[in-house]
Amino acid sequence: MSDLHDRWVAERRREYYYRLAKKEGYRSRASFKLLQIDERFNVMKEGDSVVDLGACPGGWSQVAKECVGETGQVIGVDLRYIHPLDGVQFIIGDITDDNTMIRLLEMVGGKVDVVLSDMAPNIAGAYSMDHARSIELCMYAVDVCDRILKRKGKLVTKVFQGDLFNGYIKELEKRFEKVTVHSPDASRPTSSEVYVISSGFLGTCNVKPKKLEKEEVKPEFVAKGRNF
Ligand SMILES: C[S@@+](CC[C@H](N)C(=O)[O-])C[C@H]1O[C@@H](n2cnc3c(N)ncnc32)[C@H](O)[C@@H]1O
Repeated sequence: MSDLHDRWVAERRREYYYRLAKKEGYRSRASFKLLQIDERFNVMKEGDSVVDLGACPGGWSQVAKECVGETGQVIGVDLRYIHPLDGVQFIIGDITDDNTMIRLLEMVGGKVDVVLSDMAPNIAGAYSMDHARSIELCMYAVDVCDRILKRKGKLVTKVFQGDLFNGYIKELEKRFEKVTVHSPDASRPTSSEVYVISSGFLGTCNVKPKKLEKEEVKPEFVAKGRNF
C-alpha cells in the first residue's frame, strides 16, 4: 500500500470517529480507543476507582465514569483546563511536578483499581525526541502505579514506539503479571502510537524508573496528615 493510500485511510478513520464522538456525546475521538480497549481487556468495572492521566478534554474520563458508575471514582489530571464533568474530579497540573502528585495522592486518599494514561508530549516533529518524551510520561504513569495502584490493579498507557520501547515493556513486566501491546481500531493505522495494557499489579516495586532515580534528592512525597 502506498503512503498516500495509508494517509487517505487514516483520514477517513479519523473523520469517522470524530463524527461518531459528536453523535454519541463524547468529548473526543479518543473515547473510542478506550471503549475498544475496555471491551477487549475488561479494564474497568462498576465501583472501581480510576485515575486518568492526560485527561483533557475528558473523553477517557467520560468512558471511565460510564464503566465505574455511581459507586466508582474517577480523577483526571491534565496540564490543561478541563470543563467540568458530572461525577469526575479534575486536577489541573503537570504529573511530573511533585505538587501535582501530592494533590493526586490527597484526592485519592488510598489506592486505586486502575491507572489510565493517554498522555502525549507536544509533538516536536523530531521523531526520537517525541518518542523519548512519550516514554518519560509513561514512566511517570508507572511511578503513579508504584504509589497508588492496588495489588492486582491495571494500567493502560499510550506509547509512541521507538528504541526505548522494549526497555519500557521490561519495566512493566517487573511489576505486572500480564503485559499486552495493542492497537485499537480507533487508532490511526499510520500512527506510531500503541497502547500497553498491563494487569495483575504485583504491588509496590522497589525498582524505581531510571529517569526518576536521578531525582532522588527530592524529599519523599508527604501529603498533609498522612504517611505514605
Ligand atoms: C491525547 S490528549 C488526551 C485525550 C484524552 N484521553 C481524551 O480522551 O479526551 C493528551 C493529553 O496529555 C496531556 N499531558 C501531556 N503531558 C502531561 C503532563 N506532564 N501532565 C499532565 N498531562 C499531560 C496533554 O495536555 C493532553 O491534553
